[in-house]
Amino acid sequence: MAGRISAEELDEIYAFATNLGKEAGRLLMSYANARMSDQSASAEQKFLEKDSAVDIVTKADEDVEAFIKNSIEAKYPTHKFIGEETYSKGQSRDYLIDDSPTWCVDPLDGTVNYTHLFPMFCVSIAFIVDSQPVIGVIDAPFLHQTFSSCEGRGAWLNGTQRLPLIRTPQIPSIPARAPGGCIFSCEWGKDRRDVPDGNMHRKIESFVNMAAELGGRGGKGGMVHGVRSLGSATLDLAYTAMGSFDIWWEGGCWEWDVAAGIAILKEAGGLVTTANPPEDPETAEIPEVRIGSRLYLAVRPAGPNDTETARQSQERLVREVWKRVRNLDYARPGA
Ligand code: IPD
Ligand code: CA
Repeated sequence: MAGRISAEELDEIYAFATNLGKEAGRLLMSYANARMSDQSASAEQKFLEKDSAVDIVTKADEDVEAFIKNSIEAKYPTHKFIGEETYSKGQSRDYLIDDSPTWCVDPLDGTVNYTHLFPMFCVSIAFIVDSQPVIGVIDAPFLHQTFSSCEGRGAWLNGTQRLPLIRTPQIPSIPARAPGGCIFSCEWGKDRRDVPDGNMHRKIESFVNMAAELGGRGGKGGMVHGVRSLGSATLDLAYTAMGSFDIWWEGGCWEWDVAAGIAILKEAGGLVTTANPPEDPETAEIPEVRIGSRLYLAVRPAGPNDTETARQSQERLVREVWKRVRNLDYARPGA
């Protein structure tokens, strides 16, 4: 049970959050529909650049965030609110999550997708207690998908399909030859500086290591089944919770990009740790991730096999990824 919030309160907050996610998703889709039905030049998406030409904000981001913020403040005036657009204006440099009951909201994750009408965009709402995301709601209106979870109550797709999707006769274990046989999801992110050994180059090297044939790349080749980038961190996590992705590895995201996805993935039985490999990936402890660390490695829910528990097989996969990826440098601003 979550800290100072009773089970009854949590049920009520969960129902409120799920309903809010769906309403906000409908609002977001109304902006997308308005553009699709408007044949004039004004249908062209207008956006403003924030930190760079790929870090953008639209009127939909701002209006959907205002709708969510007002709804939460009306219902839960004592709870803290952190939203992507509110933060951009405030620019705090600290870790944003503390022990207070907190709503952490991305009104539109996948803003670039939204501007191109690529359907992988969504509203992402998390409720956090004692620094742990205990409720997650992700509504992807163009996909007609709503993901939701609450601590101890399971993780769900559209309220009816429990995650991960394959559960019978049991949740599949991690393949023996992993990362072979796995789908690896990752993101290019927004740090596009073309500097030798910068984040973009380190990411590309890591992607190629994961993709290359076994034995290739000086032994680092992982020959994953496929490499995918949805362009939405929170949907990457939701698809990992579904079991559709086996691995998600990313650096650079902020609290609102991941909070709801982490809630859903963990409730489904997934594991989340840090993206950056320790000195000895084979023996190092696997740390709990700190929301706000900006470095994430997630592994899907797994079943046991003849020789390993579910957790052991997930940890094996974490170590196999760590052996193939580079350290990324995404300190918090000013840190
Ligand atoms: C971005 C997406 C992207 C991730 C970036 C995020 P936005 O969020 O989640 O997948 O790589 O780090 O900032 O800008 O679409 O809300
Ligand atoms: Ca986002």
